[in-house]
Amino acid sequence: MLHASRFTSQVSRFTICALLLWVFCAALTASPASAGTWGASYIPNVPLVTQDGQTVRLYDDLIKNKIVLINFIYASCKEVCPLVTARMAQLQKALGDHVGRDIFLYSITLDPEHDTPAVLKQHAKAFHAGPGWLFLTGKPEDVATARYKLGERGKGLSDHRNDAMAGNGATDDWERTSLFEDTGKLALVMLNMDPAFRAKKGNVPGSAYADMSPVPYVNQPGQALFVKTCASCHSIGQGDLGGPDLQGVTSRRDRAWLSQFLQAPNVMRAKKDPIAVALSAKFPGVVMPNLGLSETDVGDLLAYLDNRTARLRMP
Ligand code: HEC
Repeated sequence: MLHASRFTSQVSRFTICALLLWVFCAALTASPASAGTWGASYIPNVPLVTQDGQTVRLYDDLIKNKIVLINFIYASCKEVCPLVTARMAQLQKALGDHVGRDIFLYSITLDPEHDTPAVLKQHAKAFHAGPGWLFLTGKPEDVATARYKLGERGKGLSDHRNDAMAGNGATDDWERTSLFEDTGKLALVMLNMDPAFRAKKGNVPGSAYADMSPVPYVNQPGQALFVKTCASCHSIGQGDLGGPDLQGVTSRRDRAWLSQFLQAPNVMRAKKDPIAVALSAKFPGVVMPNLGLSETDVGDLLAYLDNRTARLRMP
C-alpha cells in the first residue's frame, strides 16, 4: 500500500512535469511571432502618416503581401535608437534595390507628439533613407494601438525594445530579430522571408553576403568595438555617413577632448562645448549617442583610429 502510494505520487509528479512542459511548449507556439497568427485579423489597420505627410493604413498599405522589417524609434533619443537606426541604414545599403521593390523598412515613432512628419523627414534624411524606408507617426492613439499589437509594450520612452519584427504579410511568417546582428546575416533574414529566395538552388545561408564586412580585418582591440558600435555611422576615409568621416580625427582634435566627447557627447553638447555644438549643427537630425564607453574602450578606439589613418596614408 505504501509502495503503491509512493508510485502514484511519482506518477502524478511526472504527469505534472509533463503537463507543465506541454503548457510551456504551447505558450511558445502561441507566441505572436510564430507563423499564421499575424494576419489581417490581428494587425490593426490604423492610419499612420509617413515622413512625407502621406496617410497610409498599417495593414492594407504597409504589410499586406509585403516583406517588411518594423522597428520603433524616436527622433530625440540619445541612447540606443540612433545606433539602431544607423543599423537599419546599413541594412538598407546591404539589401540594395530590394528595398522599396520587394522589401520594406518601417521605423515607427514612439513619440508621436514630438515626431511630426517634418521632424521624421529630417531624421530620415540624416540616415540617407531611400524610398522603401518609411518613418511613421500618427495620432497618439493609433500609434499606441500599432505598437501594442506589434509587441512594443514598454512603459516609457527609455524602456522600449531595440529589436525588430521581420515578416512576410503574404505568407504570414514573422520573426523577431536583433538589429545588432551582423548586417549580412540580417540581410539574409530579410531575403529568406521570401519563399522563392529560400528555394533557389545553391542558396546556402550565410554565403550570399559573406563579403560584406564593412572594414578589412587588421587585428586591433578597438576594431571589433568600432565595427559593432561606430561603423554604422562613421567611415574612415570613405566619406560622411550619419556622422563625420573619422579619417585623421586623432590628429585634428585634442586627445583629451576626444576622450571626453567619446565618453559623454551629450554632456559636451549640454555644456555648450563649441566644437560639439558646431559638429551637431553640421549633422542635423542625428546625434552622436552616449554609448557608455569606458576609458579603456576609448583608448582602444583611438589607437584603432590612429592605426587606420596611418594605413590610409601609406602609398
Ligand atoms: C548614430 C550614429 C553614431 C554612432 C553610432 C556613433 N557616432 Fe560618432 N558622431 C555621430 C555624429 C552625428 C557626430 C557629429 C556630432 C554630433 O552630431 O553629435 C559624431 C561625432 C563623432 C566624433 C567627432 C568627429 C570630429 O570631427 O571631431 C568622433 C571622434 C566620433 N563621433 C567617434 C565615434 C565612435 C568612436 C563611435 C563608436 C564608439 C561613434 N562615434 C558612434 C554619430 C554617431
